Amino acid sequence: MAAELELVASISRLQFATTAYFHFLFVPLTLGISLFIAILMTTYLVTGKQIYRDMARFWTKLFAINFAMGVATGITHEFEFGTNWAVYSRYVGDIFGAPLAIEALFAFFLESSFIGMLVFGWNRVNDVVMTLVAWAVAFGTNLSALWILLANGWMQHPGGAILKAGTWVGGIRAELYDFSQVTFSPVGDVKFMHTITAGMIVAAMFVLGISAYHLLKKQHVEFFKRSALAAAIFGMIASVSEVVIGDIHAHEVAKTQPSKLAAMEAIVDSEKAAPILLAAWVTKNENGQYEYAFKLPLPIPGILSFLAYHNFNAQVPGLNDVQKAMEENFTKVMKEYPELAEIIENNVMLNGQWPEFNPPVNIVYWAFHIMVYLGFLFVFIFTVAFYYAKKGVLHEKSWILKLALYSIPLPYIASLLGWATAEVGRQPWIVYPLVEIKHDANGNILWGEIFKDIPAMIEKGGQVVETKVPGAFMGLTTYKAVTPTLTVLEVVITFIGFLVIFTVLSVLDWWLIAKYAKKGPETGAEKTQEAY
Ligand code: HEM
Repeated sequence: MAAELELVASISRLQFATTAYFHFLFVPLTLGISLFIAILMTTYLVTGKQIYRDMARFWTKLFAINFAMGVATGITHEFEFGTNWAVYSRYVGDIFGAPLAIEALFAFFLESSFIGMLVFGWNRVNDVVMTLVAWAVAFGTNLSALWILLANGWMQHPGGAILKAGTWVGGIRAELYDFSQVTFSPVGDVKFMHTITAGMIVAAMFVLGISAYHLLKKQHVEFFKRSALAAAIFGMIASVSEVVIGDIHAHEVAKTQPSKLAAMEAIVDSEKAAPILLAAWVTKNENGQYEYAFKLPLPIPGILSFLAYHNFNAQVPGLNDVQKAMEENFTKVMKEYPELAEIIENNVMLNGQWPEFNPPVNIVYWAFHIMVYLGFLFVFIFTVAFYYAKKGVLHEKSWILKLALYSIPLPYIASLLGWATAEVGRQPWIVYPLVEIKHDANGNILWGEIFKDIPAMIEKGGQVVETKVPGAFMGLTTYKAVTPTLTVLEVVITFIGFLVIFTVLSVLDWWLIAKYAKKGPETGAEKTQEAY
């Protein structure tokens, strides 16, 4: 591959990461606050207390400002697939077609049809209809996320596809074989749960922080005391769930992506009864082997082995072994399937060499660990806020109010770090090969059996036969997925264009959100505290 194409791929990655990050500055709030509003409206219908309706109405205004930018920043990705990642699009097109079409037809239509009613329907339709509308929007936005995350989950663990060699010149195209394996993939499903729960945490901190701002200023006190209590309950449920779901998520990674796990936990050499490292920095020595610059283990032996594989003695993959095992397994597969060897040469090898099979370790380790540490901080903040709010004294506790206010950006940061863990951690793959880590009775990894079989139609002796081949053939590295005709100049221009436009739009959007958040509720009932 020409050096220029490698550069094009690197800038295209940077561009995609930038647009995805801008997108994710708006998506999680949409996911979480739509649900929060639906719950508020339902509480209003059940209790008949006007304050819940007013709260729903106030938070809907901020939700609507946020929603528009989520859509605007999201659409660009579909174009980027075509313009920058044409090889990838051709490769995954048949798999992604169904989930993304469902996303557009059902979920996106549902949310965008009803969002107008949610914003403009107050006092025009009755409250039962408004509540149903609020649930339709919440359901639509979260359903939308489901299909996108299933598609992303497939890139991490590409099950349910059939390999038909030679379906396009010089490579393969993954064709859908079993839709249920895409839809009910544990990797995709846990990703969905983790992401919507992240959205709930973002929304809870947003509501709690803005409520804290007004309580510190001693304005709209009754209104924001109730908002803070609702946010603290919502946030406490979400943040505790997130720790549990995060653990299940990490277990799925451990089973399917050994290089990502080794980087997330900074494990240099495969280790049995492995501990968790509370802090670590990894370098490479002159022989190209990974080693520690420093490490700080948590003194509980085997805790990482247990969390990753539910066995205190299980071996956890290390970076050096992953590289060796991947090289050996790919070489073996090429020898066993000479008629398909060209696929691996095209999709995996870089200039005839094996690529680095591990992601940038320190980025992935720290992104993962800071996300986890923040996760525990959120549990603390919401629990303390709930405790004081329930006692009715939250408005007097300025330290927790200030902490909540300044913590508004933290769940966004945790979410962005989560994506860095998932996507930087997936490198060098854009589609990870289909891998499953198994252990023997002594807890040692069966390195020779890491690939799961996939169905295939291949040509043998002049005939097309249906057979099974190792999941090694599903792997496509990022550098091989870029549009080959793209030039550096073209990508630089679009990258700068996106950066400038999205920065301006995001600043404007956040300025608007801040303006309306500071203004507080407006309608008559919110001002008369007796109404509550
Ligand atoms: C103790 C807490 C947590 C654990 C154990 C955990 C675990 C994980 C793991 C293993 C991944 C990578 C998944 C992959 O590579 O496919 C991930 C990704 C992610 N995390 Fe967390 N996480 C935790 C807390 C949080 C918090 C508090 C947030 C946000 C408020 C968050 C948001 C995300 C997001 C948005 C992603 C990317 C999407 C995904 O892969 O699900 N996480 N998390």
